[in-house]
Amino acid sequence: MDVNGKVAVVTGGASGIGRGMARCFGANGMKVVVADIELGPLDEVVAELSAKGVEALAVRTDVSKADDIQALADATLERFGAVHVLCNNAGVAVSDPIGETSLEDWIWTLDIDLWGPIHGVRTFLPIMERQGEGHINSTASMAGLYASASLGAYNVAKHGVVALMASLERDLRLAGSNVRASCLCPGPINTNIVDSERNRTPESAALHVGTDAGQKFWDILTRQLSEGMDPDDVGPLVLDAVVSDRFWVLTHPEFGKIVDQQVKAMLDDQRLTR
Ligand SMILES: NC(=O)c1ccc[n+]([C@@H]2O[C@H](COP(=O)([O-])OP(=O)(O)OC[C@H]3O[C@@H](n4cnc5c(N)ncnc54)[C@H](O)[C@@H]3O)[C@@H](O)[C@H]2O)c1
Repeated sequence: MDVNGKVAVVTGGASGIGRGMARCFGANGMKVVVADIELGPLDEVVAELSAKGVEALAVRTDVSKADDIQALADATLERFGAVHVLCNNAGVAVSDPIGETSLEDWIWTLDIDLWGPIHGVRTFLPIMERQGEGHINSTASMAGLYASASLGAYNVAKHGVVALMASLERDLRLAGSNVRASCLCPGPINTNIVDSERNRTPESAALHVGTDAGQKFWDILTRQLSEGMDPDDVGPLVLDAVVSDRFWVLTHPEFGKIVDQQVKAMLDDQRLTR
């Protein structure tokens, strides 16, 4: 797709990877709708884009709510008359072993990380089909391709996002659609995701159990992410997938080795891991 002058919607666009995408799309001639639940950073990103001459719109959105995603689509069409690229990117993470993950943590994670992209596809796909053009990208994770210990709810959500996007892309190709789908699977990126709870209600946060195993994993993750890729370097990879009609967007292709090893162990002797 030639993106110049086209319209992009980025959820979770007020921080980290989403903010990087919004900046990259704006720098490449797109009009950008930034959707996020966190109002202060949301307004800052849109002010920054506008100061650079980008036509930008902020829409406060909770991606876990279908009505909010519908309102996001309505606001986008009212302002810009079309939507060509949707990035279902908003996400949160919490760490605990599966057996000790509270019901509230399951619901919080799946509502945002999996239902967010499902609502996005259900709402925006018909608009793009009517236009005869469009591209939907969702942010999964390497955790969508390989399920590590102590990150169960997140792994389940991200495996779901990978399945959603792969199913969508195959459905679209089978139907001869001009709409394309792609899936971003980042490795460690230096963002604010380790502070995901900042957007959680106190009532919901109080129901997080918090285990030693979860905390240990979180400490390692926090260190890894602080040394991770600059989020501004991810946007150009997503843009490239949109422009070149590619499905997978991998920030750390070298991590594919662990996926490879898992498939090899499965085919060799049906074990999960050697
Ligand atoms: N940082 C990493 O290493 C990494 C790796 C793999 C995947 N990811 C994924 O990347 C995506 C972006 O995360 P990030 O790392 O940039 O983190 P981040 O915390 O910097 O950004 C996430 C954004 O999502 C927003 N958000 C949270 N809940 C929301 C809701 N209910 N509705 C709307 N917006 C909401 C936050 O306000 C924030 O602006 C997530 O889907 C995350 O799972 C991140």
